[in-house]
Amino acid sequence: MATRPPRPAELLLLLPLLLLLPSALSDPDDEACLSNLRSSLTDPTGSLRNWTAATFAAPCNGFTSYLEGVTCNNGRVYKLSLTGLSLGGALSPSLANCTNLQSLDLSSNALSGPIPSELSSLLNLAVLNLSSNRLSGPIPPELALCAYLNVLDLHANILTGLIPDQLGLLGRLSAFDVSYNRLEGPIPALLANRTAVAGAAAAAAALPRFNASSFDGNRDLYGYPLPPKRGAGLSVLAIVGIGLGSGLLSLVLSFTAVCIWLRVTEQTALMSGEEGKISHLMPDY
Ligand SMILES: *[C@@H]1O[C@H](CO)[C@@H](O)[C@H](O)[C@H]1NC(C)=O
Ligand SMILES: *[C@@H]1O[C@H](CO)[C@@H](O)[C@H](O)[C@H]1NC(C)=O
Ligand SMILES: *[C@@H]1O[C@H](CO)[C@@H](O)[C@H](O)[C@H]1NC(C)=O
Ligand SMILES: *[C@@H]1O[C@H](CO)[C@@H](O)[C@H](O)[C@H]1NC(C)=O
Ligand SMILES: *[C@@H]1O[C@H](CO)[C@@H](O)[C@H](O)[C@H]1NC(C)=O
Repeated sequence: MATRPPRPAELLLLLPLLLLLPSALSDPDDEACLSNLRSSLTDPTGSLRNWTAATFAAPCNGFTSYLEGVTCNNGRVYKLSLTGLSLGGALSPSLANCTNLQSLDLSSNALSGPIPSELSSLLNLAVLNLSSNRLSGPIPPELALCAYLNVLDLHANILTGLIPDQLGLLGRLSAFDVSYNRLEGPIPALLANRTAVAGAAAAAAALPRFNASSFDGNRDLYGYPLPPKRGAGLSVLAIVGIGLGSGLLSLVLSFTAVCIWLRVTEQTALMSGEEGKISHLMPDY
């Protein structure tokens, strides 16, 4: 089908939108987002040289941005990608002010501190990649409110606690990676099995929704597609049992050895006959 040229009436409808554009150049929410993010980050290699107060007020000129790592769409910050820049510091909760953000990729830096639960108000977010940093604390269950999330990559951090069950409700998730953290507990069934999300056909293929590589490297995470919980109670008992058993055994053995030795010395003494010899062996007092 050939594309039909827009009718004049449609162009007229677009006109007020075009006139509105200049005011969109300085969005107070984007400005708050960028300036708070900048002040929460350390930048040892000077990658954020252009991230100055002057540019925060007008980071976008339509579709182009003056800021490293920022992509604009119609005057609003739409993509933030600062990867492998040795950035330190924390994630500002004010990232939530970049309300048009669709992709947030701050992977491969040295960011620390928690993942702010405020990110849940980024309702257009499709990509969240915070992998290979030093982020700690729990995975906020509120992230399940970002209903359009396609990619959630949090691998190689030091996140703790459980994987929130709610994340299993993210129906559009096509990439999920929490490997190499310090997570614990059971893997939510909705993340492990396709049945609930993709239907019976996928379930019949007997493939997990996300395979073990999404969960590897967390010592205390268990359940399909990882091995089941280790029988901690039993093995502790077994270890105690083995310990006690071998302790007792060595006690009995050494006791027996001493007894035999005593018996042997006694018998040697008796066999040599004279009591005098025995008394001779005794020290004089
Ligand atoms: C930024 O987000 C906070 C919290 O959602 C809100 O109170 C504030 O009005 C937003 N905008 C600016 C410009 O700070
Ligand atoms: C940073 O600013 C300089 C001039 O101030 C400009 O030449 C350069 O293109 C800017 N960098 C980016 C990534 O926009
Ligand atoms: C997240 O970022 C890392 C490093 O930049 C990259 O290797 C990885 O593929 C990204 N994850 C996804 C799911 O795209
Ligand atoms: C998920 O699938 C595996 C393998 O088919 C199965 O053993 C397991 O019981 C399923 N778990 C749930 C909660 O459905
Ligand atoms: C696990 O899934 C990832 C991405 O979906 C894929 O690249 C990888 O080959 C899978 N690994 C196995 C062992 O199935």
